[in-house]
Amino acid sequence: MNGKRWLITGAAGFIGSHILEALMEAGQDVVGLDNLSSGFTRNIEAAVQKRTGNARFEFIEGDIRDPAVCERACEGVDIVLHHAAFVSVPGSLADPALTHAVNVDGFVNVLQAAKNAGARRFIYASSSAVYGDCAKLPSREEDSVRAKFLSPYALSKAINEMYAAAWSGIYASHIQCVGLRYFNVFGARQDPNGPYAAVIPRWIDALKNGAPVTIYGDGTSSRDFCYVKNVVSANMLAANASGDVSGQVFNIACGEKTTLNELFSTLKNRLGRQTSGCVHEPFRAGDIAHSFASIERARSCLNYKPIFSLESGIQDME
Ligand SMILES: NC(=O)c1ccc[n+]([C@@H]2O[C@H](COP(=O)([O-])OP(=O)(O)OC[C@H]3O[C@@H](n4cnc5c(N)ncnc54)[C@H](O)[C@@H]3O)[C@@H](O)[C@H]2O)c1
Repeated sequence: MNGKRWLITGAAGFIGSHILEALMEAGQDVVGLDNLSSGFTRNIEAAVQKRTGNARFEFIEGDIRDPAVCERACEGVDIVLHHAAFVSVPGSLADPALTHAVNVDGFVNVLQAAKNAGARRFIYASSSAVYGDCAKLPSREEDSVRAKFLSPYALSKAINEMYAAAWSGIYASHIQCVGLRYFNVFGARQDPNGPYAAVIPRWIDALKNGAPVTIYGDGTSSRDFCYVKNVVSANMLAANASGDVSGQVFNIACGEKTTLNELFSTLKNRLGRQTSGCVHEPFRAGDIAHSFASIERARSCLNYKPIFSLESGIQDME
């Protein structure tokens, strides 16, 4: 990894700040780009505190919708880890134009700036949302071609994958693009507040405060929960993979399914809040009923294996 310069877009966000932390621990030279719309400078501060050796960090507060900002951020960069996005499924149904502007136009700006700056590899966050209504489980990467998308967010991530595959072909001698389809990532620094908060931080917060947790649906829907340190390792593997990974996408998950009812019991047990109850609300539009990944492709091409399970990830957060 040495001698490289990295760009993390969305560096102030949940996942971006964990990748930043790992790169700081490894003494790397990193530039972070974020407009702080859903990220926080405290995430960056926590990550940069872990710096060792010759680690260097430069922060650019700016918007990926501005091509000039993307060009500046990509100067001298070898590897781009693109994580900035409008991340909410319900939010994307409420504002598809904003979702498109950030997740598609912004994506193309970063991709093009990376290519023009001579970056060798462009790794980007895709999502299990691209499997849409596809009922076949476990989801294999090729299954997404049959999916009907359930939200503008899902569509935007699928369009990202098409751009990345096209750029990997058209500009094959310039840049290699690798997509990582994340499945329900959880971990420290994930914001429990706001209308779009993810289930694990929201429930941990409620349980710690003695409040009931809200389950959308009857609790039988399931997710493949993936601890954030698995995602960090997937990014490092994708950055360093020597095989022909360009233009490909990989599921990044644990390869295990957990119902929301099972998650509720696990969290209650771990946090010692046996008396806490739950309330059920209608299933939310845009949400998929079940997510469960095949991680075989990531295993064989990237040598990826989940280091943490749901339980050991929750334990690591404590
Ligand atoms: N968390 C998950 O479970 C999950 C699952 C699948 C995919 N992803 C993807 O992973 C990436 C990171 O997600 P996260 O969970 O860390 O979310 P996050 O909201 O914590 O991070 C996103 C970051 O992008 C920044 N950002 C948003 N719009 C921007 C813009 N126009 N210009 C510059 N910066 C901007 C935000 O301020 C934030 O810091 C996203 O691309 C998301 O779609 C996340």
